[in-house]
Amino acid sequence: MRVDVVSIFPDYLAPLGLSLVGKAAASGVLDVRVHHLRDFTHDKHRSVDDTPVGGGAGMVMRPEPWDEALRTVAPEGARLIVPTPAGRPFTQALAAELAAEPRLVFACGRYEGIDQRVVDSARERMPVDEVSIGDYVLAGGEVAVLVMVEAVARLLPGVLGNPDSLVEESHVDGLLEYPVYTKPAVWESREVPPVLLSGHHANIVRWRRDESLRRTARNRPDLLDRLPASSFDDRDLSI
Ligand code: ADE
Repeated sequence: MRVDVVSIFPDYLAPLGLSLVGKAAASGVLDVRVHHLRDFTHDKHRSVDDTPVGGGAGMVMRPEPWDEALRTVAPEGARLIVPTPAGRPFTQALAAELAAEPRLVFACGRYEGIDQRVVDSARERMPVDEVSIGDYVLAGGEVAVLVMVEAVARLLPGVLGNPDSLVEESHVDGLLEYPVYTKPAVWESREVPPVLLSGHHANIVRWRRDESLRRTARNRPDLLDRLPASSFDDRDLSI
């Protein structure tokens, strides 16, 4: 997969060279290129922003450098992602969808955002998603891109050492993951739940499902409400 990121703070994206995403890049599964928006300006001050039309606080990113940047780095066949708190939610399902794309382009806005005409114009050439990573406001799209690229990269074939890790984890079946433990069996007088040491596979599966349900009810009751009745079995806890 090829990923291009356009930003006025390319250094913010340096962590894409580390850890899992960095290894994916080193192994050739992922090709990440970061571009400086100011390289697409032509005025003396390399300006990327201007005051909002209609008034209001802050600055808006100018359309000209953005349009030139996107026409240069986003060829046909790419999908454009614009991180913004005004976007659709970023979910595991969207991460899986993006992981199937050959080419992603991320446009990192700063200040009050990018002139909307850039997005509207790009939409005539390629699929565009405005995407939010949560109901809070960041200073710009760069951190959201780090989040999204990491979530997508770990789904690419060959990136995780053990692909079984992708099966039983939070948000895959609509529930949160059960708690996990490692050795020693007793640590500071706290025991690992005995069922996990029993070797009884069916009981372990049942216990993990119950814990998933309990945790989801406690931390994310909205997720339980969204699941169809058919996803529960008659031995599930009534929570
Ligand atoms: N830019 C600023 N806030 C954001 C958010 N919550 N998600 C994505 N991009 C953003």
